[in-house]
Amino acid sequence: MTLYRELAAEVAGMIESGILRPGEKIPSVRNMCKRRKLSQSTVLQAYHELEDRGQIEARPRSGYVVSAYWKDMPREPAMSRSPRAATTVAVADLVFDILDATRNRALVPLGSAFPSPLLFPLPRLAQLLGGVARHLDPWATVTDLPPGSWELRRQIARRYLMAGVQVPVEDIVITSGAMEALNLCLQAVTQPGDIVAVESPAFYGALQALERRGLRALEVPTHPRDGVELDSLERMLRKHDVKACWFMSSFQNPLGGSMPEENRQRLVTLLKARDIPLIEDDVYSELYFGGEPPRPLKAQDRSGLVLHCGSFSKCLAPGYRIGWAAPGRYARQVERLKFTASISTTVAAQEALARYLGEGGYEYHLRRLRQALQTQQNQMLQAIGRHFPTQTRVSRPRGGYFLWLELPAAVDALELNRRAAAQGISIAPGPMFSAKRQFTNCIRLNYGHPWSQQIEDAVAAVGRLAAAM
Ligand SMILES: Cc1ncc(COP(=O)(O)O)c(C=O)c1O
Repeated sequence: MTLYRELAAEVAGMIESGILRPGEKIPSVRNMCKRRKLSQSTVLQAYHELEDRGQIEARPRSGYVVSAYWKDMPREPAMSRSPRAATTVAVADLVFDILDATRNRALVPLGSAFPSPLLFPLPRLAQLLGGVARHLDPWATVTDLPPGSWELRRQIARRYLMAGVQVPVEDIVITSGAMEALNLCLQAVTQPGDIVAVESPAFYGALQALERRGLRALEVPTHPRDGVELDSLERMLRKHDVKACWFMSSFQNPLGGSMPEENRQRLVTLLKARDIPLIEDDVYSELYFGGEPPRPLKAQDRSGLVLHCGSFSKCLAPGYRIGWAAPGRYARQVERLKFTASISTTVAAQEALARYLGEGGYEYHLRRLRQALQTQQNQMLQAIGRHFPTQTRVSRPRGGYFLWLELPAAVDALELNRRAAAQGISIAPGPMFSAKRQFTNCIRLNYGHPWSQQIEDAVAAVGRLAAAM
């Protein structure tokens, strides 16, 4: 365990056993550094982790205190267990039925996959898009073929560099959202019938992509805080001929977990030793809470086996459909696949985003967005604590905008979904995140919308429906 995690676990233990009570101060950062001979960044990292879990909070001029409401918060869910065999995937009907319902604007969007559009700088982007469209070089429509706009790829390469990852501009391929990037990467590294390791529960888009390509899913147990469980993965790799992995290292959808640094290193080493490509679905990493951005698995990759996929859909421009792949040694293959799949991605949208990134306002926007999401997460956790059955367990992601709830075993999430929809509320039921339709008593809730009485009432209504079941 890293030093900061040890310290966070120790202070959490003091809070949970009642040695430190709500409202009481915890040792200041300076004091803790001196007493424990730790660096300031280690102590701050530990305190940020406790802050993200809702156990402590920073108070102006008095340092950190134990949060007043942490006890009202439901417990975290346990790690998932998965079937041992690889599964043919058939989720399409279930997923489309549920997604059809979330499209209805009249529903309170607790089941939505998107945060509120009000949180994005859409007016500025529209101005830039208008300007770009008016002055677009007519030849750009002919010359900006895959891999895509050079200036946008340069801006993306610059952001990689800031995150400590070296990706040459030439190795970035612009795509229509991360979904196209992920599908193209999957196509580059698999043949129909192959086995692909995915998390359990997994993003339903990953399951749909596997189904579309006739691949089999090997669902790996996944921890709600630390992501995919590596001992299980290692055992599974020994038994099955896995041709690729599709994992999320940061703020996994739907659990919200993020892999600790030491697991990231171990995962990349494990796969390198077996020459297994890893598709890294990394669409939420900009939405981290606390001081430290997570570093992608790509940062550890020296052999070009990590195909990193990102997007602006979740953090800047949802409708623009701009994503990218940095597919390492598969870059040329993915570039060609992009060409045959859709020729290129809308030129004006690429240029508008490139200009926005060049202007320098992106960091400011991200800081505000992260702050809003963190506040909304706390509001939703507290509302769940107030309105859901006491046995409910809830994840505590340190970023993104989803909570994963494990309800009492008697609750049927699909039936809960039907009853909630009848009351004008969408939720995302657990079975849509599993090839085997597991997680029958789990749901995913979205806290990406500014808190309102309507959302509070909707959470209360779903809690009442769950309690009645
Ligand atoms: C985990 C995950 N990956 C990929 C995507 C697709 O991203 P995009 O909208 O950029 O295609 C989503 C969207 O919901 C997602 O949740």
